[in-house]
Amino acid sequence: MPSWAIVGATRGIGFEYVNQLSSDAKNEVFALIRSQKTAGPLNELAASRKNIHVLETDIGNPTKLKETAGEIGSIGGGKLDVLVYNAFFHGDSAELSPSAFAGREEELENYFFEPLKVNVLHLIHTVNAFLSLIKKGMERKIIYISSPSGDLEFNRVSELSTAVGYSISKAAGALVMTKYASELKSEGIRALSISPGWVETDAAKDLITSPGAFEVILSTLRKYNPNVKGMISPKESVESMLSVIKGLDESTSGKFLSHKGNLEWF
Ligand SMILES: NC(=O)c1ccc[n+]([C@@H]2O[C@H](COP(=O)([O-])OP(=O)(O)OC[C@H]3O[C@@H](n4cnc5c(N)ncnc54)[C@H](OP(=O)(O)O)[C@@H]3O)[C@@H](O)[C@H]2O)c1
Repeated sequence: MPSWAIVGATRGIGFEYVNQLSSDAKNEVFALIRSQKTAGPLNELAASRKNIHVLETDIGNPTKLKETAGEIGSIGGGKLDVLVYNAFFHGDSAELSPSAFAGREEELENYFFEPLKVNVLHLIHTVNAFLSLIKKGMERKIIYISSPSGDLEFNRVSELSTAVGYSISKAAGALVMTKYASELKSEGIRALSISPGWVETDAAKDLITSPGAFEVILSTLRKYNPNVKGMISPKESVESMLSVIKGLDESTSGKFLSHKGNLEWF
């Protein structure tokens, strides 16, 4: 029975991973959450599907993560096939370009380090806690949900000068995955960073803070790809990503790809 752990599973893309994967009774799905506060829809889904296991954990706490790995191991037969690290932190001050932080250094420090913690450091804690389970799995895949904001070429072409902390952290997270891919290649473990596209979720909607904000984002994305029409649904994004993950092998391990399996982010 293929087993999957989705980190950050209450809403948006993480929830949709759980939904699509658990619709196949052959999959065992571990939905990792930080709190029950927003887990209503996930609990409802889990109540109707026996192959979903909702586990509360703390990705910033290696001891707690080890306990969670123990729970996954005992439910899932001592192994885990695929880990999807989807949890993230965006941070405030998203509208500021680097030079705007002159005179706001304290703000910069929080804005810089907080996304790095969740999007990079806690990624490493999580992978390390689950690695012994993954080594015993059949699929042996580690997936990091990154973002086009973490791609240098996208930032260059779209002239995106804002979202500094988030962008840096998503690039760094992708680099960490390349390191894991190199380190674990000989053990048959494959690591991939993947972007979900521009997806209609709470996070994406939160960035539309004023009436004209949607058009501003759209015109930025259109500098990169003039054909972008708008956000795609979580359903479409996750279906596409699952197809890329299915094809992940030694030749693509360590890459940072779009949901389309290439460098076309939108
Ligand atoms: N939507 C887009 O257009 C887009 C574009 C590029 C990349 N992404 C990436 O896609 C991923 C998912 O984003 P989304 O759009 O689905 O966002 P979302 O709707 O805001 O959902 C984020 C999920 O992550 C969980 N989460 C956040 N911090 C966590 C933590 N410390 N521990 C456990 N869970 C945590 C949230 O749980 P709570 O309910 O507890 O808050 C929620 O379930 C992120 O990595 C994001 O960077 C999204």
